[in-house]
Amino acid sequence: MPNLKEKIQTISSELKQQLAHLSQEKELEALRLSFIGKKGAITELLGELKNLTIEEKKEFGPLIQALRQEAEDGIAARKKFITEQQSQAADNQARHFDVTSYVPNAPTGHLHPYTLFIEEIQRIFLSMGYEIWDGPEFETEFNNFTALNIPKDHPARDMYDTFWTDQEGYLLRTHTSPVQARILQQRTPPLAGIAPGRTYRHEAVDASHDFMFMQCEGLLVDKNVTVAHLFATAQTFLRALFQKNTLDIRIRPGFFPFVEPGFEIDMRCIFCKSGCSVCKQSTWIEIFPGGLVHPNVFKACNIDATQYSGLAFGFGLTRLAMLRYGIDDIRLFHSGKLKFLEQF
Ligand code: PHE
Repeated sequence: MPNLKEKIQTISSELKQQLAHLSQEKELEALRLSFIGKKGAITELLGELKNLTIEEKKEFGPLIQALRQEAEDGIAARKKFITEQQSQAADNQARHFDVTSYVPNAPTGHLHPYTLFIEEIQRIFLSMGYEIWDGPEFETEFNNFTALNIPKDHPARDMYDTFWTDQEGYLLRTHTSPVQARILQQRTPPLAGIAPGRTYRHEAVDASHDFMFMQCEGLLVDKNVTVAHLFATAQTFLRALFQKNTLDIRIRPGFFPFVEPGFEIDMRCIFCKSGCSVCKQSTWIEIFPGGLVHPNVFKACNIDATQYSGLAFGFGLTRLAMLRYGIDDIRLFHSGKLKFLEQF
């Protein structure tokens, strides 16, 4: 029966060809049914055996059995191959989440030294019961000068090289003291707060002068406020800031039209014991101007000066930051130089 022999060969090569192209388990099952299922090609072939002579049975029986075996083995092998491929694919995908893989350093931003320093100052004053206030940099002549007992044509205006503006009666504030005037006009004592912020003066720029710098104003108004409160506040603040329990201060008279009496408060040099370039060989650093609020300021802001007294101070925040961080050139603050900024 050459016919049967050919059939076996055709089925065998078809089986091989189809198996090689399968990639889905579902397709594999369909293939299984079409070859060795109940009505499969090989099963039918086996069914035909009974119609053959004994001689033929002997010849073709083993061949068809072998073909059936070939189909079973081929399907099993292909199934294994497909599952392996699938788990390999899943594996490849999981590699995207490899926690040990290299991640290049991404640069992150950080806070400007001014921001860090202001936060430090605020923490200290908040711990002493002060509030945090704010005021505009574009200020009225009234708040910056007149309310602070510096009327028009008063020689004290010469202390401040002012940036005037096109708008009559407006200027860039020359100090943070106008925040005092604003608060006193808005609130009734008792009150206590600080106001850190930018100030502007028409100055030639060098390593220790800038036309824009920062100050921090302080104001405390209540009944029976004395200079003792001012000195204690200055000392407590400076000791906390420089973390030195024994840091001494000294008091000298100072003139500011909006305080009476007025003082310059110095602190012991934090860099030396017997004189250095920072303290100009004096061992003292001038740091903290202040005084008691002048009655004329109270009057201008409608506060009863017979009932209340207050202390006020306004230190150079920029200068203090330079001392605190050891910065020797004021221009670095606004230089945008990363080499400088990244140190904080
Ligand atoms: N505003 C003053 C200045 O800029 C400093 C100061 C503030 C002095 C408050 C006394 C009281 O020079």
